[in-house]
This record gives sequence, structure tokens and C-alpha cells, in this order.
Amino acid sequence: MKAAIIKNFGDKTELQVVSDYPAPSINDDQVLVAISATSVNPIDYKARQGLLSGRFQWQFPVVLGWDVAGEIIAIGKNVTDFSIGQRVFARPANDVTGRFGSYAEFMAVDTNQLAKIPDNLTDSEAAAVPLAGETALQMLRALQIGPGKKVLIQAGAGGVGIFAIQLAKLMGAQVATTVSGSNIALVQQLGADIAIDYHKHAIQDTLSDYDAVLDTIGDIDGGMDILSSGGRLITISASLSPEQTQRAQNEAKIIATGWLQPNGQDLQQLADYIANDQLKIIIDSQYPLTTSGIQAAHARIESHHARGKIIINL
Ligand SMILES: NC(=O)c1ccc[n+]([C@@H]2O[C@H](COP(=O)([O-])OP(=O)(O)OC[C@H]3O[C@@H](n4cnc5c(N)ncnc54)[C@H](OP(=O)(O)O)[C@@H]3O)[C@@H](O)[C@H]2O)c1
Repeated sequence: MKAAIIKNFGDKTELQVVSDYPAPSINDDQVLVAISATSVNPIDYKARQGLLSGRFQWQFPVVLGWDVAGEIIAIGKNVTDFSIGQRVFARPANDVTGRFGSYAEFMAVDTNQLAKIPDNLTDSEAAAVPLAGETALQMLRALQIGPGKKVLIQAGAGGVGIFAIQLAKLMGAQVATTVSGSNIALVQQLGADIAIDYHKHAIQDTLSDYDAVLDTIGDIDGGMDILSSGGRLITISASLSPEQTQRAQNEAKIIATGWLQPNGQDLQQLADYIANDQLKIIIDSQYPLTTSGIQAAHARIESHHARGKIIINL
């Protein structure tokens, strides 16, 4: 099958598309998806650089990618809730070997990570949703967002931010977010009540007594500055230092790191919001699954200024 592989950790030129990569097989509880679109997430370039090598025990060649949208072409014998021909999407579980990611024509996916693509989404739009959308939903739940809660979502124009703003509004919260000036109108359209141009203003200049912070940029101290006593902060992009943990204890603030748990039911909830026109997909750019396409997509995600999601079409 066609797949983008890396044979070593390194820069984006390690990514090469080949046409003779072995296709995955499925077990009794899995379906085989013919992928028509995937997306690029920051974890992809971090993994490519080897920054996650302590977390993953991979054997080269490695196929990166954690977002799947496509059609089921085979099902395992225990699978009853999905059938051949259905359009599905998923944030698949991590493959321990690293050999079968979503930058490929086919992927084996556990059914408990799958959901059906709503009719009002193309496969390219669907590929934008699983990893970033599930992360936003799960972190907002963990932050106990609800009606009237004040939440800061850092990097509102990013892959996670675009979903988090909209989901926090659906949960009834008051939402502040940080962006470059050129993205203020975008996040306001998504529902943000307060948009801070982080190049001009510190969050502490505008915000105080917040109930929650979703930290996507590693500004844990800044987040704690604006939290009320009893407020919660989750970071998805940094680890907590002993000093930060101590400070949180002293100030009665609850801080934690957060990791997405792939979950088809959560993805189905996102699909339902999309089907009801309650959740918009914002696409930054699209590339083909070619060597130059995948390398360009990685250059774009490494710019740290993607506006929404980066899609790879097969
Ligand atoms: N732990 C997990 O399970 C998990 C899951 C998903 C993601 N993550 C992590 O979460 C982070 C965000 O992911 P993502 O997909 O949202 O990334 P992304 O799409 O690459 O984020 C790009 C956005 O970041 C914004 N940005 C850059 N620097 C900023 C700053 N100093 N302040 C505010 N905004 C800033 C840019 O906005 P402007 O162009 O407007 O400046 C851009 O829109 C990454 O580190 C990723 O690895 C972790």
C-alpha cells in the first residue's frame, strides 16, 4: 500500500512516501479502513523528531498519523455494530510497533474508537475532528466546565482551540482565548467572548478569578495567575515542575497534565454536534499524500501558526 514512512528520527525530509508498504491485518474486534483523509497534529512532528521515543517503543520504518477518515472495507468476526461500506472516522489507539499509523492507505481500527461520519461532512473535514476534537471534549470535562464557568482556552485558533472554544460555549461557559490579531475575528465567530492578542497583551492584564484554564502552550504559571482559588488548570503541552505543583497547593488551585484517551463514544458525541450544525470544522490547509505534500504539511504544523487543522488527502 501507499504510506509515508520515516526510517530514522529527524527533520521533515525523513518523511518519504512509498507504494510497496505492507498493509495491516485486522483482528476479530477490528475493522479495516480504506483511508481517504488524515490530518497532521503537533504530536506527529514531535514523534518524528524522536521527542517521544521514551514513550513509544517503535521499530523503523515508522508510519506516523493519528487521525483516520474513510470507508470500512473489511470487518473482524466479532464486529456487529459497523459494516462494510460505512464512512467512519477515528483517533486510533497507539500502535506499539509504530508501523501502522494513518499516513497510509489502510489502517486497522478497534471498533470502540470508531464513529460514523455525519452526512454533512466530507472525509477531508472529518479527518480534522478525532484527535483534536476528542482532546478538547475530554479536557473540558476534566476541567468541570459548565454553565456560567469562566474558562481560558490558550491558542484558540489552533487545532484543539477551535474545538475547545465551541464545545465550552455549548457547555454554557464564558470563554476567553488567546490568538494573533489576524485570528481575532475567527475565534469570535466560533463563540469566544474575550479574544486576547497575546502579542500585545498578557492574559493577566485582562483576566482574573477564572474557574478553569485549558493550557495548550505551556504557560502554566500564567494560567495559575488568573485562576481563582479552587480553580482548575490542565496542560496538554507541558509537564509540571515541582515548584508549580507546590505553588498550586499553596494557592488551593488544582493543576494537572492531560492526555487524550481515544474513545469512539466521545467522537460520536462530536459527530452529533456536527450533524446538528453546532460544531464547525476549520481547515488551515490541505496536501496530498506525496513526499512533497507530507513534508509541506509538517513544515506548516511546525510553524506553530496553523489556523485550524491541516489535512492530508489520499
Ligand atoms: N496531551 C494530549 O493528549 C494532546 C492532544 C492534542 C494536542 N496536544 C498538544 O497541544 C498543543 C496544541 O495542539 P494544537 O493541535 O492545537 O496545535 P496547533 O494547531 O499547531 O496550534 C497552532 C496555534 O497555536 C497558536 N499559538 C502559537 N503560539 C501561541 C501563543 N504563544 N499563545 C497563543 N497561541 C499561540 C497559533 O495561533 P496564532 O497563529 O493566532 O498566533 C496557532 O493557531 C500541542 O503542543 C500538542 O502537541 C496534546
